[in-house]
This record gives sequence, structure tokens and C-alpha cells, in this order.
Amino acid sequence: MKTTTLFEKYRPTTFDDVLGQEKAINKVKLLLARGWGGRAWWLSGASGTGKTTIARIIAGYGADDFYITEYDSADAMTAAEISRLEQDMCYLAPGKGGRAYIINEAHGLRKPMIRRLLGLLERIPNHVCIIFTTTKTGESSLFDEQVDAHPLLSRCAKIELTNQGLAKVFAEHCRQIATVENLNGKPLQSYIKLAQSCKNNCRQMLMTIETGDMLL
Ligand SMILES: Nc1ncnc2c1ncn2[C@@H]1O[C@H](COP(=O)(O)OP(=O)(O)OP(=O)(O)O)[C@@H](O)[C@H]1O
Ligand SMILES: [Mg+2]
Repeated sequence: MKTTTLFEKYRPTTFDDVLGQEKAINKVKLLLARGWGGRAWWLSGASGTGKTTIARIIAGYGADDFYITEYDSADAMTAAEISRLEQDMCYLAPGKGGRAYIINEAHGLRKPMIRRLLGLLERIPNHVCIIFTTTKTGESSLFDEQVDAHPLLSRCAKIELTNQGLAKVFAEHCRQIATVENLNGKPLQSYIKLAQSCKNNCRQMLMTIETGDMLL
């Protein structure tokens, strides 16, 4: 039997289910209304606040699951992989027609890959969408090796997720999940404390609940 972690089981699949990120979601919706493909996105924010979740929902708008490629780290973006991606993105996909590429931990991209991506981002076909996610905010010192982040970021629609005001919403959400999963034995206040000790990282909160820490 395949194990599904609580955080994957309860990962939002629609924008309405994403908690505490209304401002970011509104920006995303505004852009999506102007067209899904032909653009790159840059999603930044603290760990466990919804970046990969939102990236997958955006990707799903225009591409079927099979045509969504996700790179867990920038290290996976090798020169060979970029060449493969360049080939791949020339062709329309079956189903919804689109292809989406999600590059997580994008701050780890190395100089030669960034250089190649700059060219690639200039000519993204209308059936392709590329989404970067990163925990790093700001442009200065985003990349190692003194790479200027501006040329890359200026080719992307920038969406910043907030880390503010999440403790209560995440606490309520996680307590509800804990109750359904028979893992709840504590008052809301304990979940607010959990949110604070996890720095509002919803994944970490759900992992803690999964180990039975919120039982009596
Ligand atoms: N805003 C949110 N609303 C509801 N659930 C959330 C939210 N953010 C995170 N979660 C929960 O936490 C899990 C991890 O979230 P996600 O993968 O989107 O985090 P991330 O921002 O990409 O973090 P990292 O920087 O560590 O990759 C999700 O599967 C979901 O269960
Ligand atoms: Mg992520």
C-alpha cells in the first residue's frame, strides 16, 4: 500500500482551498485571465506556505498531469535537461494542449543554466508555462557566484507569498485535519503555538500532527 503523507493528502487542488494567500492568488487569477501560456512565473515565499501547491494549480490550468514536469531542485536543471525541455516544448501536448515545467528551489540555479534560461524565456510558446519557486526573497544575493538575478526575474511574473497572518488559519485548518484523522486531542491554542514553533510552515505542522504530538 502506498503511504500518503498528511500534507500530500490535504494539499489544496483549487485556488479557493489555498489558505491565507489571497493577495497572491488574486494576482495569479488576474494574470491567468490574460492567458495561461507563453509566460514564466516566479513564486517566492517561506517554506510550507503554498508555493509548490500554487505552482501545481497554475500548471493544471493548461496542462494535463502527464505533461507537467516538476524539478525538485535547480540541480536537476542540467544542460542536457534544458536541451530536452527546449525540444519538448516545441510540441503541443494531447488533452488540454499545454506543457508546464515547475522548477523548485530556483535560487540554486547555476550561472550557465541561468544564461540558457534567459534565451529560452524569450521565446516561450503559447502552449507552455514555466514556473519557478524559491524560498529566497529579493533580487540581491538570490544566486551564488555573484550572478545578477535581474535579467531572469524581469522575464517572469513575480508573485510573493506572505508569511503573515497564517498562524490562526493554519492552526484551524490543521486541527480540523487532525480531528478527521483521529489525531486531535488539544485545543486550538496548542495549534497556534505549533504554527508559531513551525514558523507557519503548514507542511511541518502536518508532519508533527502525523507523529501523534497533538494527541492528549
Ligand atoms: N496556503 C496553504 N493552504 C493550505 N495548505 C497549505 C498551504 N501552504 C502549504 N500547505 C500545506 O503544506 C504542504 C506543503 O506546501 P507547499 O509544497 O506548497 O510548500 P512550499 O511553499 O512549496 O514549501 P517549500 O519551500 O518547503 O518547498 C501542502 O501539501 C499543504 O498540505
Ligand atoms: Mg515547494
